[in-house]
Amino acid sequence: MEMSPENILKALGNVEDPDLKKDLVSLNMIKDLKVDNLHVSFTLELTTPACPMKDMLKNACINAIKHLVNSDAQVEVNLSSRVSTPTDISGLAGIKNIILISSGKGGVGKSTVASNLAIAMAKTGASVGLIDADIYGPSIPTLFDLVHAKPSAKETPSGKTLIEPIEKHGIKILSLGFFADPEQAVPWRGPMASNAIKQLFNDADWGELDYLFVDMPPGTGDIHITISQTFPITGAVIITTPQKLAVADTTKGLNMFLMPGINIPVLGVIENMSYFVAKELPDHKYYIFGRDGGKDLAAKNQVPFLGEIPIIQSIADSGDTGIPLVWDASDKREMLFDELAGKIAQQVSIRNRQV
Ligand SMILES: Nc1ncnc2c1ncn2[C@@H]1O[C@H](COP(=O)(O)OP(=O)(O)OP(=O)(O)O)[C@@H](O)[C@H]1O
Ligand SMILES: [Mg+2]
Repeated sequence: MEMSPENILKALGNVEDPDLKKDLVSLNMIKDLKVDNLHVSFTLELTTPACPMKDMLKNACINAIKHLVNSDAQVEVNLSSRVSTPTDISGLAGIKNIILISSGKGGVGKSTVASNLAIAMAKTGASVGLIDADIYGPSIPTLFDLVHAKPSAKETPSGKTLIEPIEKHGIKILSLGFFADPEQAVPWRGPMASNAIKQLFNDADWGELDYLFVDMPPGTGDIHITISQTFPITGAVIITTPQKLAVADTTKGLNMFLMPGINIPVLGVIENMSYFVAKELPDHKYYIFGRDGGKDLAAKNQVPFLGEIPIIQSIADSGDTGIPLVWDASDKREMLFDELAGKIAQQVSIRNRQV
């Protein structure tokens, strides 16, 4: 068949994005198509740089052209991405997706997972922010070794004062912990807390963000209601541990998001502290807290199960030293967070396509 742009597009019309369930041409993902004799080049514009299927899609494009147009074709596929967004996000210009990391239960690893996911996402090339919304016990300053950090303020041309997020490990970070004495408990009252949290979103110089992760406080309180009702949230990721009791509490947390009036999509469940592996016996998994609590929770509520994170000594250590795990390139287990970040990005793209 002739190597014409029409024939190339017809061939690419047979390649389906398995998440978005449509072909790449209808999805408007093929850009800058150029054909020169046997040489064809185009850009495949993905909905996220964290797309776990980018290589698969690229190969499918090459195969489609070789099989359906000309087996001698030389195909050059350039990958780019434009992260999708569920709304025009009027109040928060520039922030495409807000993702809440939440759980009905305390101590299940929300802050640890949020930090590592944010860094893993940024490593794919996405622009990423992280808000610590746990006003009563902010842990992001410790996790990032920023306990004494003080964000500066900047004046915009229109005269508004904006807080400058602190940049570390490739992400922009704000925590109310930056504005309080680390040794002192802050006696926030309900409305004060809500206003303070809103300021972290509204009055900060976030610039353009593909993903803004929010490390939520435990439970289902004022802060959850405020954030859910004030800002356009793409979705929530629920963290649980495998124990029955933890799952019971997280179920409440999950149901809160699905309540009418809140109505926030649940992007999926992550089970943390799933099992333990001893160095001496690397192939044996000890399920000390029970098994499949997270999987069951996801299945029961018909939301995706995103994965398990084992109990890892270095995760606990890295939390205490202020160096998140994914930053330590020598640790192979950082892959785990890369994979989870990819899955979350995938779910975000699917959601945004549905809106
Ligand atoms: N997979 C893991 N392996 C080992 N330790 C972990 C793991 N996940 C979390 N931890 C440790 O468990 C403790 C609690 O984690 P973290 O503070 O992230 O939980 P949280 O849900 O944010 O708690 P809170 O409800 O108080 O905000 C921390 O000391 C952390 O280092
Ligand atoms: Mg926390």
